[in-house]
Amino acid sequence: METEKVSIEPESIKKVVKEKYGAIARGEVKGCCSTSNAASDTLYNVGTVARGYKQSELAEIPSGANLGLGCGDPTADADIQPGHTVLDLGSGAGIDCFLAARRVGAQGRVIGVDMTDAMLEKARANAREGGFSNVEFRKGEIEKLPVESATIDRIISNCVINLAPDKRPVFAEAYRVLKPGGVLSISDIVSFGSVPQSVRRDAELWAGCIAGTMDKADYLALIRETGFKQVTVRKEVVYDAARGPDYGFASVTVWATK
Ligand SMILES: C[S@@+](CC[C@H](N)C(=O)[O-])C[C@H]1O[C@@H](n2cnc3c(N)ncnc32)[C@H](O)[C@@H]1O
Repeated sequence: METEKVSIEPESIKKVVKEKYGAIARGEVKGCCSTSNAASDTLYNVGTVARGYKQSELAEIPSGANLGLGCGDPTADADIQPGHTVLDLGSGAGIDCFLAARRVGAQGRVIGVDMTDAMLEKARANAREGGFSNVEFRKGEIEKLPVESATIDRIISNCVINLAPDKRPVFAEAYRVLKPGGVLSISDIVSFGSVPQSVRRDAELWAGCIAGTMDKADYLALIRETGFKQVTVRKEVVYDAARGPDYGFASVTVWATK
């Protein structure tokens, strides 16, 4: 089957992304990385590696929170302390929110923001099932966060920012809501080399966390330009299976402070 091609307008990207992750939340599609298009399978497979969660951590959260949609373990690098307020950008079914909730304890709290209704419903059901009273899920877009300025100690995000049509407002909003001295710890997919337009303009590959990736150097430069300091790549896994002749993709976990 031919992969759907759409004009890559911000609103059509958002629509495709919402449809895809709504279908995943409702169990109609298994994972972000399955496709009926054999030609895209190699690229889709990148989303299934480089996650790095400890089994002991996963045993402490509702199993329905783990939909296999992440590309790293950003909570592990976020230096989350008891009492902290943590914000998860694009929280999905809540996996990283629940891992963070264990770390912040009863005195702390975790806010997950997601734009997809079915994901929010699933995450809230997982919170009830696991008895997580220190976690709340808010509907919103990461480009315009429903969060007060300078109220957050730690921001985490897992395989979401690449899905945003424009990354600049995402980092600007993250900077706005973070307290001075707060930490940003994000896992995401980035690209390098000359990614072909046929990949860049493939809507299904956008929703599959590939087409919307930024060049790694530009991505890090944008985070610095936003005002973040000590911008460091803590982990990086290059996806050998998805390399083209002169381009490729990698999962990175980036750490920065305000
Ligand atoms: C690949 S999934 C990752 C979910 C979760 N972070 C995890 O690791 O399981 C991407 C999630 O981000 C959400 N999302 C994508 N773009 C968004 C945006 N611009 N604003 C808010 N949520 C967004 C989707 O609805 C989806 O739940």
